[in-house]
Amino acid sequence: MAIPTSRSKEAGSIHINDALCKGCGTCVAICSDQSLVLKNEKAFPSENPFFGCVGCGHCMAICPTGAITISGRTLNSNDFFDLPDKHNNPDYKQLMTLFERRRSIRNFKDKAVEPEIVQKILAAAQTAPMGLPPSDVHVMVLDSRSKTRAFAKDYCEFLEGYKWFVSNWFLALMRPFWGKSNDEMFRGFIKPLFKVYSEGFKNNRNLVNYDAPLAMYFYGSPFTDPADPLIAATYAMLAAESLGLGTCMLGAVHPMIQYGSKGRRFRERHGIKYSSREGLFVVFGYPVYTFKKGIKRSFADITYS
Ligand SMILES: Cc1cc2nc3c(=O)[nH]c(=O)nc-3n(C[C@H](O)[C@H](O)[C@H](O)COP(=O)(O)O)c2cc1C
Repeated sequence: MAIPTSRSKEAGSIHINDALCKGCGTCVAICSDQSLVLKNEKAFPSENPFFGCVGCGHCMAICPTGAITISGRTLNSNDFFDLPDKHNNPDYKQLMTLFERRRSIRNFKDKAVEPEIVQKILAAAQTAPMGLPPSDVHVMVLDSRSKTRAFAKDYCEFLEGYKWFVSNWFLALMRPFWGKSNDEMFRGFIKPLFKVYSEGFKNNRNLVNYDAPLAMYFYGSPFTDPADPLIAATYAMLAAESLGLGTCMLGAVHPMIQYGSKGRRFRERHGIKYSSREGLFVVFGYPVYTFKKGIKRSFADITYS
């Protein structure tokens, strides 16, 4: 067994065409698994890899003569394509323009996001880096306003059944276990959030996902690096911005639907296949309002050690 993901538990297979290999050693140098060795100026699969080929495809993508074929771990030769021209890369200024113009958008026009735009966002998000190939990110898409609203309604009803979770007696009980910062977070944010969501919905205001015409939930499996869904969500967000959409990340749904039989039933109702350590919703749509200024942001700190 190689490094497991929900999609693949076997190592990739490495095939080297001896006639094509010129023994340049580039594949050996870039393989971080030590899956390849050079013997008598030819590349060979190694007998002592660290984990077994994870199917990152780097050796196949870098080989100057096309001597390497990797298969397995969902990878095959059709997954390799000619690189787009480097001159079409956005430069720093263009990227910064996209980043600086982005704002979290919570007011969306009642206009559907076209299916081809949805596909473009998904295609871009699939280029995101991942902890270990093949990507173990799962995506649940709600592609209409009625679907995001139905999801939000169900979520508010689901939270009603968890009111004890933010009750004063439970928070007092938990404080010695989860500490001061969590206690402050629950009392100052999570508890009021429960109220805001459910009262909002009763007053016909969907504050869970803002009646967006499109939402995507990026989540993992028990094998997924927790960062992977968040990185994919970020790529989706930026791709959508480049396509003229407004976006907003939503962190408040994922943690609540992970636990217990109620959480499992909620996930099942919405076709969410796994509970996972991290996950993130992103909502998308055409914005109602246009910001007139950018907002300068900063990190909490930057230290060099
Ligand atoms: C991880 C993450 C989770 C977020 N969760 C929510 C959320 O649940 N609801 C919401 O309205 N905004 C949410 N936001 C949006 C932030 O509140 C938003 O980034 C903040 O208002 C700053 O605005 P800006 O993105 O325009 O700089 C989230 C953002 C991030 C990065």
